[in-house]
Amino acid sequence: MSILSIKELPIAGKKVFIRVDFNVPLKDSKVTDSTRIDAALPTIRFALEKGAKVILASHLGRPKGKPDPKYSMEPVGAVLAEKLGMDIILADAPVGDGPFKLANELKDGQVLLLENLRWHPGEEGNDESFSKALASMADVYVNDAFGTAHRAHASTAGMIPHVEEAGAGFLMEKEVKFFEKLLSAPEKPFVAILGGAKVSDKVGVIKNLMNLVDKILIGGAMANTFLAAQGHHLGNSKIEEDKLNLCRELIDGAKARNIELILPVDLKYANSLDATETTTVAVIKGVPSDQMALDIGPESAKIFAKALSDAQTIFWNGPMGVFENPVLAEGTMAVAKAVADNKGITVIGGGDSVAAINKAGLSDKISHISTGGGASLEMMEGISLPGLVALAR
Ligand code: 3PG
Repeated sequence: MSILSIKELPIAGKKVFIRVDFNVPLKDSKVTDSTRIDAALPTIRFALEKGAKVILASHLGRPKGKPDPKYSMEPVGAVLAEKLGMDIILADAPVGDGPFKLANELKDGQVLLLENLRWHPGEEGNDESFSKALASMADVYVNDAFGTAHRAHASTAGMIPHVEEAGAGFLMEKEVKFFEKLLSAPEKPFVAILGGAKVSDKVGVIKNLMNLVDKILIGGAMANTFLAAQGHHLGNSKIEEDKLNLCRELIDGAKARNIELILPVDLKYANSLDATETTTVAVIKGVPSDQMALDIGPESAKIFAKALSDAQTIFWNGPMGVFENPVLAEGTMAVAKAVADNKGITVIGGGDSVAAINKAGLSDKISHISTGGGASLEMMEGISLPGLVALAR
């Protein structure tokens, strides 16, 4: 797929619409994690250095097509102003007379931040008139929102045919480079680690990974369903009863392809997610009927670390347990350490595993931490992302 880089686009003195993913966590109207803002800074700074008039646009949360002050871009604008050391002009809507006037009056080297794109129903509806309205503000379009590239929305896809020039920002390029490498020419052995709540969220990715990897390690609540499918007793643990057959098929499919599918051999259980104490049990012995498996056990952590030790490529999505609770964090932290110790290419996607590696203080030891959760999973599923397809020439 051939996509122009922002470096190849004529942006000097032009109104450059940059679609960013500033869908950041907020608490009491304050940004609590600015990773996604930081990740977009190289593209924004580059455009400013080249003398572009920068128009930034993002969604924030899911306000369902209506203005909702709870999801205003204002706190994001404040963080951005601080990081860039300059004033950010904030429009009071994504489109309309106000934003159009501000965009027209923008001077070279200034930044206009549009209000939340999802305050308008045309964004998620990929509505043509909304797409045209967005495009009317811009001479050049740049997409740096990898985290939203799996959505075919007006700002990620619909507006592109209505602008003269379009390309990708540096974050988008970096994300695509890493995932394309994983998908097309991964160094072997390639090991995938999957965790998190549900098998159903990861079926597509597991199936596609079977074409790519040598080993798949499965932890988190999704491992419960695989273990139950093998006949183990999981007590009161979260299990997707309707996915037991599918898990058996995936286990058989891995065997048929000579892929090691490694499941936990021991688990930590407790009676609630806020437990202050846990008990470790071998999987073969089963979890008591009133208890839930909430982390992988120490033996499993050792087996997982060993399976990762000779990997040349690692992809990790999803925690091994309820790592937000310190007594249920050991499995996830052990995997984080094993990934960080690996000298090959290591890629982490998905909000929870990214939070886990940050919590472990090991993020600087990872080759690539994706800003996309859903987008990185769909990419690893082998699905063409609409935001990339729209940019292709
Ligand atoms: C994300 O956080 O995964 C992206 O910003 C996309 O958000 P969405 O799931 O609300 O479309």
